[in-house]
Amino acid sequence: MRNVIKWGVLGCGNIAQKFVSDLQYVDNSILYAVASNNKERGRKFANKYNAKKVYSNYNNLVKDENVDIVYIATTHNFHYKNTLLCLDANKPVLCEKPLCVNAKEAQLLIDIAKQKKIFLMEAMWTRFLPATKHLIKDISDGVIGKSKLIQADFGIKKPRIKGSRFYEKKLGAGALLDLGVYTINFSNFIFDLQPKRISGFAKLTNQGTDEYAIYNLEYQNGRLAQLSSSVSFVTPHEARIYGEKGKIVVYDFYHPQKYTVYLSTGEETTINKPFQGFGYQFEAIEAQRCLLKNKIESAVFPLEKTLKVLKTTDFLRKEWGVKYPNDD
Ligand SMILES: NC(=O)c1ccc[n+]([C@@H]2O[C@H](COP(=O)([O-])OP(=O)(O)OC[C@H]3O[C@@H](n4cnc5c(N)ncnc54)[C@H](OP(=O)(O)O)[C@@H]3O)[C@@H](O)[C@H]2O)c1
Repeated sequence: MRNVIKWGVLGCGNIAQKFVSDLQYVDNSILYAVASNNKERGRKFANKYNAKKVYSNYNNLVKDENVDIVYIATTHNFHYKNTLLCLDANKPVLCEKPLCVNAKEAQLLIDIAKQKKIFLMEAMWTRFLPATKHLIKDISDGVIGKSKLIQADFGIKKPRIKGSRFYEKKLGAGALLDLGVYTINFSNFIFDLQPKRISGFAKLTNQGTDEYAIYNLEYQNGRLAQLSSSVSFVTPHEARIYGEKGKIVVYDFYHPQKYTVYLSTGEETTINKPFQGFGYQFEAIEAQRCLLKNKIESAVFPLEKTLKVLKTTDFLRKEWGVKYPNDD
């Protein structure tokens, strides 16, 4: 059995820096190799984070037999192609969210991973954070009784710079795939269900991607979610869960360190679950745990959950007329 997991990083952009920085909190992990299509970016990244190897193309990274798992951190549009490259080379993958631009791409990857028995997981880090885990347990223990309504928003303000992945259609831009996936995942985690009916409205950019949007999900047994996302204005990043006995407010719900339970009796309790670093260590720990146990899928965040969210985003995008080159 391997003692230490050697990580390879594919794409050396913004999020990759945060992820590898958090590997310092993951026992038995090392950043072994990085690959960037931009030689200088890759070299700087490798120097800063002490990677042993640096490659200027992704093929050489996946061919390196010392790499135990590849973390994919390119823009959404490349996730399908990059994950396929890894799976073809029999490399386990932790791929940034969204796993793919659409459910069709995701299904193809899932089928290959399962058929070849290779670990694959979407890096939906929120699910693995201590506060989220505690919250999910509180909900299932009935702390606020049956939960009925979730409201969650994720709006940030990104400048409209040419080529920005937040506005460039060919890079899979749009608030829904970038930020909305957090609100939908959160709602699915809390209700532990998949939506049965979906509706929503979006304001599109002149490239035809969703700049901001609101959407509603209806689940079994009268459970509802009211969600929103934006790349052109900031919202509080809060989630509120309303139940029979009170409500829970989750601050910075996509990377929470605390939440407050307000009971109808007037009782108020704040649960604090602080963590070091950015919080990406917990998804890495889960990926390593799966690898060491020869699991090809996380039981905490199985691929079916990823697929269901992409089916929801596919539905909304179709309603709004948001189509990406990947969809063809
Ligand atoms: N989990 C989180 O909290 C979180 C936060 C932010 C982003 N993300 C996800 O991580 C992914 C990357 O986001 P990011 O902000 O890190 O992106 P980024 O810095 O803009 O780009 C990441 C990498 O993608 C490649 N790339 C970017 N634009 C390209 C282009 N026009 N043509 C070819 N390659 C290009 C580059 O790879 P090379 O280095 O090989 O050139 C770049 O280093 C996205 O899918 C996003 O959803 C997750």
